[in-house]
Amino acid sequence: MQNTALINRDHERQALDQLLDAARAGLSGSFVLRGEPGIGKSALLDYAADRASGMQVARVLAIESEMELGFAALHQLLVPFLTRIEELPAPQRDALGSAFGLIAADAAAPDRFLVGLAALTLLSAAAAAQPLLVIVDDTQWLDDVSADVLAFVARRVYADRIALLFAVREPPGRRLPLDGLTDLYLPGLPRPDLARAHLLYGEWLRRQRHRAEARAQVRTALDMFGAMGLDAFADRARTELGALGERVGVRGQDTAAERPRESLTAQEERIARLVAEGASNSEAAAQLFVSPSTIDYHLRKVFRKLGVTSRTQLIGALADLAEAGA
Ligand SMILES: Nc1ncnc2c1ncn2[C@@H]1O[C@H](COP(=O)(O)OP(=O)(O)OP(=O)(O)O)[C@@H](O)[C@H]1O
Ligand SMILES: [Mg+2]
Repeated sequence: MQNTALINRDHERQALDQLLDAARAGLSGSFVLRGEPGIGKSALLDYAADRASGMQVARVLAIESEMELGFAALHQLLVPFLTRIEELPAPQRDALGSAFGLIAADAAAPDRFLVGLAALTLLSAAAAAQPLLVIVDDTQWLDDVSADVLAFVARRVYADRIALLFAVREPPGRRLPLDGLTDLYLPGLPRPDLARAHLLYGEWLRRQRHRAEARAQVRTALDMFGAMGLDAFADRARTELGALGERVGVRGQDTAAERPRESLTAQEERIARLVAEGASNSEAAAQLFVSPSTIDYHLRKVFRKLGVTSRTQLIGALADLAEAGA
């Protein structure tokens, strides 16, 4: 998603920016982003990745179907850094090698503490060359040993120029070994923002030509704006639904004839008069120092408010208005 479009997450963005600044300045730190499905955890992780200029970014996406595979996620994370495995002290090298199946394993499972140390050593060596951001998404699906090891790393980094971010769905459905790390709970967005998020998402979906999904998002937005009485946003959602080929009545199913007439704003009235006098959209735009699309936008609202569908009808409606006002 477009991070510039992230609504209402100033506090969280600031916290992430500080974490990245600290890593660039030589320190380490971590956050566990927690929140219900769809609340915006991955979106914030993307934000952090975008802001990690001058840093290396290593990502782990835990996958539900790999939960039972020991070390799957850790392997995904460490692959780019394994070129330095030979530099590790022998016990760490052997533990990691056997965890990843690089060397014949003992009968016993590799010692998690040694694997943890090996991961820490490899990541700090990499971060010594360039600060490192480690992102772990969907931590609730991390295999157990990887979760243990990554949490171990997160608790031990200090002056290593490493920032770690974990995203966890709430409730995670299992016990995760993330004790001692700093939680950042993502509250639900206030409803107007949530409605706007639906609208923006719907607009984006339409541009991606996912029209059916777009309609569902925009309809949700329209219902929410309508319920909150946010008319300007409701208008925008209605226009968007129109672009998606859906007809929507103003405030429900009422028809133009039954609808109480909304009054025009001063700007709408100026535009309506110019157009009724024969001005084209670009001529009206030039006279009022706005863009033709602004004229178009206002004109649509004028048409809707007056219940007309053509310029000829507009002239009639304006004459009626003048008479009524006189
Ligand atoms: N603050 C926001 N402003 C605008 N859009 C947002 C915001 N937060 C999330 N979204 C959008 O909402 C949708 C869901 O967000 P996201 O995928 O980040 O949720 P999540 O918490 O990672 O969910 P899950 O638990 O399913 O992984 C995405 O399309 C995202 O772009
Ligand atoms: Mg997510």
